[in-house]
Formats: sequence, C-alpha cells, structure tokens
Amino acid sequence: MTGKADLKSLVPLIFGFSAFQQLHAASELQLFEYLTLNGPSTCEQVAEGLRLPVRSARKLLFGTTSLGLTDRADGVYTPSAPLREAIEDGTWPLIRNILDFQQRLSYLPATEYAQSLRSGENEGLKHLPGTGNDLYTRLEQSPELENLFFRGMHSWSELSNPVLLDQVDYRDTATVLDVGGGDAVNAIALARSHPHLRVTVFDLEGAIEVARDNIRAAGLSDRIDVVVGDMFSDPLPSGADLVLFAHQFVIWSPEQNRELLKKAHDTLRPGGRVAVFNAFADDDGRGPLYAALDSVYFATLPTEEATIYRWCEHEAWLKETGFVDIMRIRSNGWTPHGVIEGRKPDAV
Ligand SMILES: C[S@@+](CC[C@H](N)C(=O)[O-])C[C@H]1O[C@@H](n2cnc3c(N)ncnc32)[C@H](O)[C@@H]1O
Repeated sequence: MTGKADLKSLVPLIFGFSAFQQLHAASELQLFEYLTLNGPSTCEQVAEGLRLPVRSARKLLFGTTSLGLTDRADGVYTPSAPLREAIEDGTWPLIRNILDFQQRLSYLPATEYAQSLRSGENEGLKHLPGTGNDLYTRLEQSPELENLFFRGMHSWSELSNPVLLDQVDYRDTATVLDVGGGDAVNAIALARSHPHLRVTVFDLEGAIEVARDNIRAAGLSDRIDVVVGDMFSDPLPSGADLVLFAHQFVIWSPEQNRELLKKAHDTLRPGGRVAVFNAFADDDGRGPLYAALDSVYFATLPTEEATIYRWCEHEAWLKETGFVDIMRIRSNGWTPHGVIEGRKPDAV
C-alpha cells in the first residue's frame, strides 16, 4: 500500500548514515585526491588508480555523483566545485580528520541517541573503552582515541577559529589564559596572528602532553606556557588580561558554565575580558541545522549535560556573573561559530 504523503524529503534522512559512508569511503580511498591529480577519469581509471574492483568503483562513483560530491559528464568523473575548492585552499585535509573523528568516535555512540534522550545521560560513552562518566576521562585512558580526538578537535578549531583570531580586538590584551585549551591549537594560532600576545594553556595532563609537543614544534615555547589542572577543582592561573573558553561551554551544564565564568571573573583584573568561542544555536530555537545535527554528538558522548546553547543563554550567564559590555561576534564562515565576550567592570 502506498500513502498519499510526499515523503521524498525524508530520503536523505532515512539514508543519512549511507550518505555519510559514501563521503567517508571517498575520503578514506582518496577519490578526490586521485581525480584532482589525474584530471577527469573514467570509472575504469578510478578503479585502477584506487586499486578497487571496477564494480566497487562504480558503486562509489554512483554514490558520490548522486550526492553532488563528484560530477559525471561524457563518461568521466571530476570532483564537484566545493570539493575542488576545499582541496585547492587546503581545507580538505581538515575535513578528512573530521570525517575520521565522526567515523571512529561519534558514529557508534550516536546510535544511543534515543536512549540518551530517555535517560538524560551520555549513553554513547559505553562504546568507548575505560571508566569514568565523561569523554575526557575516558580519552586519558586510551592514547590512540585521544590522538584521534585531538586531531579532529584541532581541525574543527582550525576551520572555525578565524572569528577568534580576526574579529576579536586584542589591542589592549597582552596575556591570554586558554582554559581547556586542548592541544594548543587556538593558543598557537593566536600567538602566530598576534605577535604581541603571550598565552597560557590550562588543561588536564593528557591534553597538556600533546600541547607541549605542538608548542615546541611550532617554535613558540617562549610565548606559550602550559599549566596542568582541573578547571573545576583547581584555581585558574591568575594574571591574564583575557580568559578564553574555546569549545568549552558546549560540554558543561548551565550551572557549570556560570561557575567557570565566576572563576574567570575572580581571576581577572578590573577591565579584563572573558571570551567564549564555540558553536551557538539561534535564539529562536529553529537552527542552524549544523548546530541541531551536532547536538547528537553532544547528547551521546562528552558529558551528560553537553549541548549547543543559544546566544541568549550565554549572554544571561555573562550578565549573572558580573560581566558588562557583552558583545556577540558572529563568524562569516559555514559553521555556526562565534565569540561572545564580556568585560569585568573597572574598579570603582
Ligand atoms: C572540546 S575540547 C576543546 C579543546 C580546545 N579548546 C579547542 O577548542 O580545540 C575540550 C577540552 O577541555 C579539556 N577538559 C575537559 N575537562 C577538563 C577539566 N575538568 N579541566 C581542564 N580541562 C578539561 C579537555 O581535555 C579538552 O582539551
């Protein structure tokens, strides 16, 4: 029996997992790199180049072409314009890291989404080895996954941090404290794009080990320090002009985010600033789509409270913890990232 409803719009959703697998397989098999290097190619040439049976190349190219990832004309295939541009401008390797992150870290836990909604807990964690109720404690017990996580996180930050680097005013800032700074991706980018800045990266031991190596490799050990600590149970290092929380407030509960802002407020000098950099949901609760879809990861993995909050919620937390001159800075990129900043009032 066929119903009357036109359910065509459900096709990409019913097969959402297949769409991802088409893109991931193309990435893993390096289809786009092959087509970029070798120019327009037939299915047989792709099969030979990627060392696949011809029938497999045919399946892959059918999938990628239907999804608009490759174009087919006169029997030859080329990468579609967005893929070609991503390869040309150097974005593609970042996307590949993100696809790996999704495949190996987020994918299986995402099958626990309904159960996570029911229980209100990050049920996907059961698919990761180790013990502990949050992703970061588990990652510390699994060096290979930790590496994969930081490679993905690094790429996400690199893709989205132009708003932090170029649209925040650092003219009156000499020192930045990067709380939960991870592998120092943002600290290194800030130090490179603002040569007058000194940055301190504060994170758990596992992340700091990776950060140390990256800072040394970047030749920035004289301008970026690291401090090991727990942002909730340890005091934050004092003396910074700006306290940065990058991809941080999406992990914790509203109460914890207020607690972190209060700690930042206490450690800042009068006139010092706090900057919160992450993805934001729109105030009207209708999108953007990226934030809504990414919410499955936040519901199933990092912590039981993780989610992408609205701009207005961040604004309320900043006000409640005593910050003034609160400002929203929206990114011009394709991700819903932005920065919301506030200032500790001058002493009276
Ligand atoms: C989503 S990652 C963001 C990393 C980096 N700020 C970025 O934007 O790429 C969250 C970071 O918070 C750190 N973190 C989690 N819990 C922490 C805690 N209790 N104290 C300090 N850092 C913590 C993790 O180790 C991880 O590096």
